[in-house]
Formats: sequence, structure tokens, C-alpha cells
Amino acid sequence: MQQPTIRPLGDTFGAEVIDLDLTQPIEADTVNELNQALLDNLVLVIRDQDLTAQQFRDGIANFGDPMLQHRVAFRIPECPDVSRVINREKMRPASMWHTDHTNHEEPPKATILYARKLPAEGGDTCFSDMYAGLDLLSAESREKIQDMVTINNMEPDNPTYAAEDRNEFDSGVPHPMVRTHPETGKKALYFHVTKALEIEGMETEKVRPFLDGLLEEAIKPENTLRHHWTMGDVVIVDNRCAMHRADPNYDQAEERLLWRVILKGDKPV
Ligand SMILES: [Fe+2]
Repeated sequence: MQQPTIRPLGDTFGAEVIDLDLTQPIEADTVNELNQALLDNLVLVIRDQDLTAQQFRDGIANFGDPMLQHRVAFRIPECPDVSRVINREKMRPASMWHTDHTNHEEPPKATILYARKLPAEGGDTCFSDMYAGLDLLSAESREKIQDMVTINNMEPDNPTYAAEDRNEFDSGVPHPMVRTHPETGKKALYFHVTKALEIEGMETEKVRPFLDGLLEEAIKPENTLRHHWTMGDVVIVDNRCAMHRADPNYDQAEERLLWRVILKGDKPV
């Protein structure tokens, strides 16, 4: 029986999990405890994993149902639920704050990343607590966004999307800007800054500056967590209440490769 230890990661939020092996069975009580820890901490870092793509996928399936990711070219052929996140093949580091796959009607509840190749220095992933982000907004901003609806598409200038991806997942999906978390019942700021190309009732050219302004208000050191990767780390983030970004501040001559699984989620409300 696995009895992992869960302990706080740093000063803001997030927790690390030690003495858990994702290749081995995990009892239902332990899965519940880990799911609760994710709800409480928003980010979990499971240390010291040594996994094939299939083991990664199957271990993570304890926490939800893996869903296929867009970018067909980056799926791992022998295990298509696992996708590569890499600074090669025209893929650019996702350096802007976002939550994943908002161009889907039911975006993933969680994103799980597993480090496979890391640069000698840097290449961190940063996370931000969007419950706190909503609280950090001015009363005026909060009032303005409370019933706001974003329209989400794939970035038109992103060369990593195939025609097949666009046919399936580029149809302008509406989501509320303020999302109620389906498990905690708490409200969080919810958008993807480069996929929310439109906001209902707002002129298109005003959308991006408006979203950038919201990020500036909502993301501060006190609600941010910087994860410096160690090989073996598996990181789970709750996409319903946290945003993330890749820090591109490393030597791009070095390859950085993460594997990614996403878990099915609900339609945001
Ligand atoms: Fe992402």
C-alpha cells in the first residue's frame, strides 16, 4: 500500500508529493487524498518518477480521464494521450499566462506535465492562483467582467496546428470570464490570453489590451508559484482555478521537452 507524504511547496501555494510511485496501484483513499490536495493547493508536484509514456498516462488516469490533445503532430504515436511540449518543430514556449485548451467546449480540468529534457539553467513553469487573481482585481474591473463572455479560438498565427486540428477545434467557443469551480464552488478568473480572440460586446482591437490589463492586475508575486524543474517531477495543475506560463528565459539552443496529459473537464459556468 502506498502512503505518500504531501507537504507545502513554498510560500504561496502548491504542494509536493513524495513516496508515491505512479507505476504502482494507488488505493482509492489515497487517490481521494491527492485529489483533495490538488483542490486545496492548486498545483501538486509528484517527485522522483521514472515512467514510460504509457506508465505516465496510466498513472495519471487514477485522477481522471485523459483526453486527446489538439496538435496531432505532437502526440506520441505509441501513446496518443501523451503529447510533447518542446521548443522545437516551430513550437514556441507558451510564455503568456493562460489556462489550457479553452477552444474546447469542455476544457481539461487538469494539465499534467512530466519533464523529459531540461536546459542546464532556467526553463521554469510558473503558476498563478486565479481565485486570488479575481480578488486582486479592482472593484471596477470586477464589476466589468462579472458577466463577460470570451470567445475562444486557436491562435491564427500558430504554425503547430494542423488543418485537422483547426477543422475540429477552431469554432469560437464561448466561456465565462468568471468561472465557478465545479468542486470547490469558489469563483476564479478564467481565460486564455491568446485564445480569447473576442469578448462579447467588445471591439476586437480592444480585447487583447483589456486582457493584458486584467493579467497585470490579477497576477502578483503573492499569488504566483515558480516551479524549477528537477528530472522526475510530474506536475499537476488545476486549470479551473490556476493559470500557467513557460518562462522562455533559457538558452533556446538547448532542447526542453515535457510530456503532457490533460484530463477531461466540465463546461465552464
Ligand atoms: Fe499550457
